[in-house]
Amino acid sequence: TAVGVTLTINGVERNASIEPCVTLLDLLREEFHLTGTKKGCDHGQCGACTVLVNGTRINSCLVLAVSRNGSEITTIEGIGTPDELHPLQEAFVRHDALQCGYCTPGQICSAIGLISEGRAKTRDEIREAMSGNLCRCGAYIGIVDAIEEVMA
Ligand code: FES
Repeated sequence: TAVGVTLTINGVERNASIEPCVTLLDLLREEFHLTGTKKGCDHGQCGACTVLVNGTRINSCLVLAVSRNGSEITTIEGIGTPDELHPLQEAFVRHDALQCGYCTPGQICSAIGLISEGRAKTRDEIREAMSGNLCRCGAYIGIVDAIEEVMA
């Protein structure tokens, strides 16, 4: 039986009627066509699906959309614009922190969450705190450089 869910996504209230088993990731991609959020593994291993839920980074493939009813969601579509990139996006460009780009939306969302958590101070702590976001191109040095620069 379908149930109603209401979310504020990138500042806009959105409603959907979905099956209770639909993940937040599938709701974003399939229902709202916000395909910037990527599906890599679909079981919490890669971080490509990371979004911010009430400011906290979360693997959207691991949560049921209905469990976050009423929440504020930020996806990569809500971060920066082509004309005015978010400072972290600018830093990613400056530091060559991507190659194919598939993991980048998740990396950016995760890094924004990390910075607002204020926990990671050192380079090693950034690496540890970003360890849930895999990059098959191996752009890790640039990713950590970019985050370090924005945090400084
Ligand atoms: Fe969610 Fe890989 S798609 S962690």
